[in-house]
Amino acid sequence: MDALLEAALAARKHAHAPFSGFQVGAALEDDSGRIHTGCNVENATYGLTICAERVAVFKAISEGARKFRRVAVAADTGALTPPCGACRQILWEFCGDIEVLLVNLEGRSESLRLKDLFPRPFDATFLS
Ligand code: THU
Repeated sequence: MDALLEAALAARKHAHAPFSGFQVGAALEDDSGRIHTGCNVENATYGLTICAERVAVFKAISEGARKFRRVAVAADTGALTPPCGACRQILWEFCGDIEVLLVNLEGRSESLRLKDLFPRPFDATFLS
């Protein structure tokens, strides 16, 4: 299996999801090939929960990475789990039209482009 998919599946095991029970892992590959992982981290307020994808992006940014090639998202669902709307916005801002790989625990995977998941985005080009 692709190392990025394996990294997302491994990161999922660290999920802190006591409220939903829905565990998600993410793995983001930067332009040097380094993989930055994340899992969802839930909060008792619910609203402060952060998704696996955003954890991976923010970890990567905080470690100096700025260009990204691919992101993988792992969850235990038959219909492969895509990034939520908030994560699509964050991924677009930091990664642009990145390849998005979805994978489940059976190892079934799919490759998508972020622009197809997130058409007509609002981004910094509107602010200039
Ligand atoms: N979640 C993610 O981490 N990523 C997704 O792509 C979908 C949703 C998390 C948020 C929350 O902890 C749980 O899954 C249920 O929504």
